[in-house]
Amino acid sequence: MSNYHIKHLEEYYQVYRKSVREPENFWEEVAEEHFLWRKKWDSVLEWDFKKPSVNWFKGAKLNITENCIDRHLTTRGNKTAILFEPNNPDEPSEHITYSELYKRVNKFANVLKENGIKKGDRVCIYVPMIPELAIATLACARIGAIHSVVFAGFSATALATRINDSDCKMVITSDGSFRGSKAIDLKGIVDEALDSCPNVTTVLVAKRTGAEVFMKEGRDVWLQPLLDNASNECPAEIMDAEDPLFILYTSGSTGKPKGMVHTTGGYMVYTAYTFKNAFQYTENDVYWCTADIGWITGHSYIVYGPLANGATTVLFEGVPSYPDFGRFWQIVEKHKINQFYTAPTAIRALAKQGTELVDKYDLSSLKVLGSVGEPINEEAWHWYNDTIGKNKSPIIDTWWQTETGGMMITPIPFVTPTKPTYATLPFIGVQPCLMDEEGNELKGNQVSGRLCIKFPWPSMARTIWGNHQRYKETYFSAYENKYFTGDGALRDEVGYYRITGRVDDVIIVSGHNLGTAPIEDAINEHPAVSESAIVGFPHDIKGSALYGYITLKGVGESRNHDNLKKEINQLISDRIGPIAKLDKIQFSEGLPKTRSGKIMRRILRKIASNEIDNLGDVSTLLNPECVQKIIDNRL
Ligand code: WT7
Repeated sequence: MSNYHIKHLEEYYQVYRKSVREPENFWEEVAEEHFLWRKKWDSVLEWDFKKPSVNWFKGAKLNITENCIDRHLTTRGNKTAILFEPNNPDEPSEHITYSELYKRVNKFANVLKENGIKKGDRVCIYVPMIPELAIATLACARIGAIHSVVFAGFSATALATRINDSDCKMVITSDGSFRGSKAIDLKGIVDEALDSCPNVTTVLVAKRTGAEVFMKEGRDVWLQPLLDNASNECPAEIMDAEDPLFILYTSGSTGKPKGMVHTTGGYMVYTAYTFKNAFQYTENDVYWCTADIGWITGHSYIVYGPLANGATTVLFEGVPSYPDFGRFWQIVEKHKINQFYTAPTAIRALAKQGTELVDKYDLSSLKVLGSVGEPINEEAWHWYNDTIGKNKSPIIDTWWQTETGGMMITPIPFVTPTKPTYATLPFIGVQPCLMDEEGNELKGNQVSGRLCIKFPWPSMARTIWGNHQRYKETYFSAYENKYFTGDGALRDEVGYYRITGRVDDVIIVSGHNLGTAPIEDAINEHPAVSESAIVGFPHDIKGSALYGYITLKGVGESRNHDNLKKEINQLISDRIGPIAKLDKIQFSEGLPKTRSGKIMRRILRKIASNEIDNLGDVSTLLNPECVQKIIDNRL
């Protein structure tokens, strides 16, 4: 029996049991069976959740790009590695074979070196979904530079915060980006960000839109001429298994974004292994994940996981609604997609369009459908299953996080059963548990509580860049010896997990993880604002949307409130990005507070969701009188 590919239910149980009883033997066998190591490990796992410190494959040497590219050259040199589908459907798609990818990554790696980037340096990648994004990422990994990809929809301020937090000395970007019918001036955003990033010495600029852009003398360089002159060969830097591979920022409930640090060996093994099994990928399949590489989903399941399996992975530049809402299905037909991985928010938006634009296309190539980023509601699940999957393609509802690096709870299609709205069973090697608020583990089935993980898995983040204490406090302090996910979950009568949502102040809007604190900070910068509280409320398409309660400074505030709302959303857009804009803004004279002055978001959340019948006891509040007014004026 191969541990690497699980094909039957019996095997799942057998392998799962082994992965829990003898995790070191299990992961050692997987690592040995399928990867290219320059040197094997001294120990498989050393860990201590108290510190916390986790080491997988300590002492091993490797380069992840040799695993993702070089080793496929003899057997898959002419196979398409990356299939680029442009925003404009009339523009030809581009098939980048493994041999071409090898050359392009090596050239790019040489350009990085020639521009002073060395092992351990941080490089910020702020590039739209074009091949250069994946290639730049891999080029960093080739030379051991730590990439920090920032989603190219973030604002200049958000970009600057991320560049400075990890002290990047280089930024890679493009002249602009295409999103549907719009062209966005990315370079302008970078220029604005760099006004407050004194340590960035070089900006490499890829050409995409052809827009005329400002190029700062001595700092900004066009990428293409450098690539044209660079050598096709760049020896891979030999990395330790625990050397950082990348930093990826995610929002927390408070404070600035957290730079989650992922390391090399364990991340590679786990993302490759989950990709193979969760998608049941076989050699000639064409796989498409619609996420952006700017999120963890794209890192693990557009770039590293698929390429480590020698897969063909589609990279789509555009949006689901351009030129019309049939675009996804047109692409499925055009490239005969076998595995399709998207977010519930996209599914809901597309379901709303009816079936006409689905029926136009041949979707018979589809074998597996995936969902990620937020709970998928019953209706969306059934639409996906019936209308897209024609009842023959299992849906894997994959629960995981930026912090976990790879999928944690998910069905394995054709192997384990699915159940609507359930992420179902833990993946091999994952040991979830549910805890009550007093810190007791809830045993048995039919329980609900806070979702924790009891044992390390290879792709977990090792720290927060520059702030190990925060890493410890956020994930390892709520429950002793356990990783706390921040999510609530229930376990049904047969042991399947259903994720019920965040239990902290993080709100998932259209699959984007947004912390309330940074949004409130942005709002509070407005001179008319005294204080604010953001909560989530249910939304048809976005899953959750943002509801802001805002108190203004002057009682005699005479400004037109519609203008004020616009200004506040503009501020949020500038500071964070358009994804964080508020759907509803209610001005209120006071916000409900505890006696210690903490805003009671729980009450505001219920009002925003129209659950005003069970607000709970408000009598202990500092200012209970404001609650009724807020209810009366709710939007
Ligand atoms: C949070 C993590 C996983 C990569 C994309 C998001 C929510 C994620 C599911 C799911 C219910 C889900 C959780 C989690 N989430 N997948 N299948 N069912 N909730 O990564 O931005 O780090 O967000 O997304 O609340 O904690 P992220």
